[in-house]
Formats: sequence, C-alpha cells, structure tokens
Amino acid sequence: MTTLSPIIEALREANAIAVLTGAGVSKESGIPTFRDAMQGLWAKYDPAELATPEAFARDPEKVTRWYDERRLRCSAARPNPGHRALADLQTWCEERGTSFTLITQNIDRFHQAAGSRDVIELHGTIWVWRCTDCGDEQEERGGPFERYPPRCACGGFRRPAVVWFGEMLPEAALRRAFEAAETCDLFLSIGTSGLVTPAADLIHIAHQHGAKTVEINTEPTPATALTDWALHAPASNILPELVHAMD
Ligand code: APR
Repeated sequence: MTTLSPIIEALREANAIAVLTGAGVSKESGIPTFRDAMQGLWAKYDPAELATPEAFARDPEKVTRWYDERRLRCSAARPNPGHRALADLQTWCEERGTSFTLITQNIDRFHQAAGSRDVIELHGTIWVWRCTDCGDEQEERGGPFERYPPRCACGGFRRPAVVWFGEMLPEAALRRAFEAAETCDLFLSIGTSGLVTPAADLIHIAHQHGAKTVEINTEPTPATALTDWALHAPASNILPELVHAMD
C-alpha cells in the first residue's frame, strides 16, 4: 500500500484539488452503502426496483417508505472524522489560495454538517422532498411522515429530491463537477465503487487532463489501475491522518 508522504506532498503542491466522495465516506457514520442497505426487510429487493421513476409510479408507498427509513437513519447519525477532515482540508486550501472542489454522490448532507462549503451534490438530497405535481420542494427534518407517500398541500405525491437510476443529474452540478475534474491537478476519489456513471467518469477525465489521482477505498475498484496512489483503508481513519499530517 502507498505511504502517505507522496500524497501529502501532492496535496501541498497542488493548485487545484477536486474530491469525489461516495457512500463509503458515510459508512462509519452508520449509514449503510446502497448495496448494504438491501438487507433485513428489504433484502428481497433490487436497488433498481426502488430507486427508479418506474418503481415510484408502480408503488409510491413502498418506494417512499424505503427512502424515509434512510432519511430517519440519517437523522439519527452524525458526520464522522472523515467528513471533518475534508472540511479541514478545504480550510487549509482556502488559506493557501488553492482551489478546492468537493463533489459528492451522497444524499445525506454530512459533508455540510461537518463544515464543508459549496458542496456539489450530484445525486440530490434525501432531506428535500418534491411534489411530483406542482414541483414544490420542502425540507423534511422531522419524524416519520403521517402517510406514504407524503402529500403536498396541492394533493400531489411528494418524492425525495434524489436522482434515481435513469434520471438526469442536476445540470449545473454536473457542469461544475466536470469543470473541476478537467481543471484540477490532483483528484481524490474516496469511498466510491466507481460503478455508477457519470460520477464514475470524473476520475478518468481528471486523469486524461493530466491530474494526479488518489483513491481511498477499503477495496480496489475499477479505477484503481489508473490511480497514482491507492490507499486501501477506511476513509474515517485515513483522511484525518492525511489531513492532520499536512500542518
Ligand atoms: N472507507 C472507504 N471506502 C469504503 C468504506 C470505508 N469505510 N466502506 C466501504 N467503502 C467503499 C466500498 O468498497 C465501495 O467501493 O465504498 C464504496 C461504496 O460503493 P457504493 O455502495 O457503490 O456507493 P457509491 O459509489 O457512492 O454509489 C454510487 O450508486 O447506489 C447508487 O445513487 C447511489 O450515489 C450512489 C451511487
């Protein structure tokens, strides 16, 4: 396994750092990754049976119950030292005039709760629920809904403002993420399996544009082969170690 020192040096020397995070970053906060979440009562379902517009059209109650279970789990959980280390890294970059962009596929907003600013959310957020009739969006931080699917004042069904399989990613977020990947000189991919595009393309784009790349993941991924440095360890351990070694 790579030692930390060349990565610390690369972080110090970079003019523009872009970071992509996935479910692995929130794992030690107690939020199961998408694939892990298909256990217990939900074990018999395929994620694609719940996280698609077709699934919602077919069975809005089941889909919204599943998402609300995840929302309530997030309510009871907190950011971990990995999230906090990334917020510290952003501060360190700002103080030195290094550009820093944090892009996440996570819908839990733990990066923001840990102090990260201006986070690019590629897959939306579970905290906002949107009416499928009038488009009204509402932040939902309370307990379980009274009924499933929850209803808007207009009578329409509300759904979580997350991006489902087969849906478009938010255009502005995607544009900013691609721009950051194209212009950074150091790209870190953390806690993501690299299986879901277009997020999975970002590391390849950064690499093609000449950036150095780092992967932090408990396991190798399809992107490991192209990375300059791979750290196979839990993000909540290695990120604080990495960032605090930079002071
Ligand atoms: N530290 C670092 N990496 C970890 C840790 C950890 N503690 N625990 C797990 N991982 C890694 C796993 O090895 C895996 O590669 O995190 C990755 C999680 O992969 P996925 O569950 O596929 O999550 P992600 O890549 O974020 O998924 C992308 O797919 O499920 C959809 O829309 C959903 O945003 C999600 C997208």
